Amino acid sequence: MCGIVGYIGDEQAAPILLDGLSKLEYRGYDSAGIAVYGDQGIKVVKATGRLKVLDELTHGGSMLPGTTGIGHTRWATHGAPSDINAHPHFNKDESIVVVHNGIIENYLKLKKRLQSKGYEFVSETDTEVLAHLLDYYYEGDPLEAITKIMHRVEGSYALGILFRDHPDELYAVRKDSPLIVGESGDGNLIASDVPAVLKYTRDVYFIENEEIVCLTKDKITFYNIDEEEISKEPTRIGWDMEAAEKGGYEHFMLKEIYEQPKAVADTLNPRIKDGKIVIDELGMTDEDIRKIKKIFIVACGSAYHTGVTGKYVFEGLARIPVEVDLASEFRYRNPILEPDTLVIIVSQSGETADSLAALREAKARGIRVLGIVNVVGSSIAREADNVMYTWAGPEISVATTKAYSTQLAAQYLLAVKFAHARGVITDEELAGYISDLKKLPDQIELVLGCKEKVQRFANRYLAAKDIFFIGRGIDYAISLEGSLKLKEISYIHSEAYAAGELKHGTISLIEEGTLVTAVLTQEELYQKMISNMVEVRTRGAFVMAVTNVGNQEVEKTADFVLYIPKTNRYFTNSLAIIPLQLFGYYVSLGKGLDVDKPRNLAKSVTVE
Ligand code: AGP
Repeated sequence: MCGIVGYIGDEQAAPILLDGLSKLEYRGYDSAGIAVYGDQGIKVVKATGRLKVLDELTHGGSMLPGTTGIGHTRWATHGAPSDINAHPHFNKDESIVVVHNGIIENYLKLKKRLQSKGYEFVSETDTEVLAHLLDYYYEGDPLEAITKIMHRVEGSYALGILFRDHPDELYAVRKDSPLIVGESGDGNLIASDVPAVLKYTRDVYFIENEEIVCLTKDKITFYNIDEEEISKEPTRIGWDMEAAEKGGYEHFMLKEIYEQPKAVADTLNPRIKDGKIVIDELGMTDEDIRKIKKIFIVACGSAYHTGVTGKYVFEGLARIPVEVDLASEFRYRNPILEPDTLVIIVSQSGETADSLAALREAKARGIRVLGIVNVVGSSIAREADNVMYTWAGPEISVATTKAYSTQLAAQYLLAVKFAHARGVITDEELAGYISDLKKLPDQIELVLGCKEKVQRFANRYLAAKDIFFIGRGIDYAISLEGSLKLKEISYIHSEAYAAGELKHGTISLIEEGTLVTAVLTQEELYQKMISNMVEVRTRGAFVMAVTNVGNQEVEKTADFVLYIPKTNRYFTNSLAIIPLQLFGYYVSLGKGLDVDKPRNLAKSVTVE
C-alpha cells in the first residue's frame, strides 16, 4: 500500500521526508517521490524502485533545500510503476502538488470532465486528477478548494498538499485511508502511519474521515468538511522506535516471532483479574452476552485463519453458532444478519479495505460490531462499536506472526468469558481455562527452542515445488496459516487441506518426495490423522508431523516430528503455529528472499 509523509518546520524537509518514507517501506511499494518548497518554489523528484534510488538521486535530500515538503511511496493500483506515475503529482504550472494514498473510484469521469475543459494529463494515475481538480477549484483559498474536491471525489484518500501561494502551510485531508499528524517542537508532520513520525514526536493526532488539517511550522488547525474549525486531542504513543526497529534480529519477522510470548502475555494478562476475565472495552454486560444468538468472525488472510480457530473455540466452549467469513466475500454476499448477532472484525492493521467494508456493511444493518485490532486508532478500531486491542506492538514484517498469535489470544478470552457468562462452564472450569491461558506465553517460549531443528529441516526443502499441510478441526485452521506463512514469503506453492478431504481429489498430487506437514494436536482425532498420514506416505510423501509431547506413536508414521507442550485442546494453535512460522521463515531465508517485504504483497491492503 502507498505511504505518505509531510513536514513543515525549521529543519530541512527532504531528509525528514526520506527518513519517514523509510519507516513506511513495510507497506509495500514500487516507486517513491518527494516535493520540497524551497527558495526557487516547489521542486519534485521521483523515481521507480526502492527508496535508495530516490535517496541517491537527491543526495540524501540535500539537492532539495527547503523546510516544507511532502513525500510518497507508491504501491501501484492505477498505472504501472514508473517515474511519471510516481507521486507527487501536480497541476500544469506546478503550483499545487499532491501525494495520495487510496483510490479515486470516479477518477475517469472526473478526468474526462477536466480534459473537456482543457486540462492535460501526463500520467495514468487516478491521483493526478486530484491535482488538476484542486487547480480547477482553487481561487486563492486552499481550504475552499479542498472541501470542493471532497464533495466531488468518490473513493478513499489520505492527501498531503502544497500550494505555491501558501509557502508556510501544508494541508492534509482524509477519507478512509489512514492519516496521522505528528506535533513536535521542531515542526509538524503528517504520515500514513505512526512509525514515520516517532523519531520526532510521540504526540500524534488520528485524523477522522472528512477532516482537513492545515499545518504551519508551529500550529496545527483541524477543520471539518464545512470548513468549520474543530478541536482534537493528541494521543501519546507508548511504544518507541526501538520497538519498531529490528532489535538485533536479521529480519523483523524473526524478531516478531520471538516477541510472541510477550505479545500474548500483554494481550492476556490485563484482562485476567482476580480469577476472572475482564474485558471492559467489550461494552457488553453478561446479560448482553447471554442474548447473543450468533457470531460472525470476518477478516482476511491470517486474521481470517484465526477466525477459523475462533469458530471451534466459541462453538466448543460457549456453544454459540459461529460463521467465519472472508471479508471480501461477506461484503458482497448479502449475508443474513439476524438481530442479536455479533460481528467480530479481526484485523492487525485496522485498515484492510475489505474488512473495513465488511464492518460498515454490518453496521449499516444495525448489527453490533466488535473489532479485534492491533493498530491503535486505526479505522476499524474507530468505526467498530467496541474494540478489543491486541497488544502485539508494531508489526512490521508483511507476514504476520505476533499479531496473529494475539488475535488468537483475544478470541480465547472472549470465548471463555462468553462460556462462563452463559453458564456453559462452571467457576471451576473457568479457573482451569484461565490457568491454561496464563501458561501459553511460557509454552510459546519453550516451543521457540525448536528453531535450530526447524532451520536444518527447512534447508532440505528450498527447492520444493509443492508442500501440503493437513489437519482436522483446529489443526486444519493451523494448517491454513502454516501454508500461508510458507507460500507468502518463500514463493513455494502450498495448500492446506482438511485431512479427511484429501482423498476426494487432491491426493492425486502427492508423489515421491512431496512434503506433507500433518498437524495433530486434537487427541480425539489422532487415529484419523495417522490414517491420513499413512495414505500420503504410501504414495511417496515425506511427512513432517507437529503434535503434542507424549504422542510418540506418531513417529511410526512420520519422517520428522516436532513436539509442542500439552495445553488445552482449544489453545493448541498458539503453540503448533510456532514451528510452522519458523519453517516458512527459514525456507525463505535459505532461498535468499526478502523475508520482510515479499514480492507483490503489502503489510496493509487498504485497496480492494
Ligand atoms: C498474513 O501474513 C498476511 N500479511 C495477510 O494475509 C494479512 O493477514 C491480511 O492481509 C489481513 O491483514 P489485517 O490483519 O491487517 O487486516
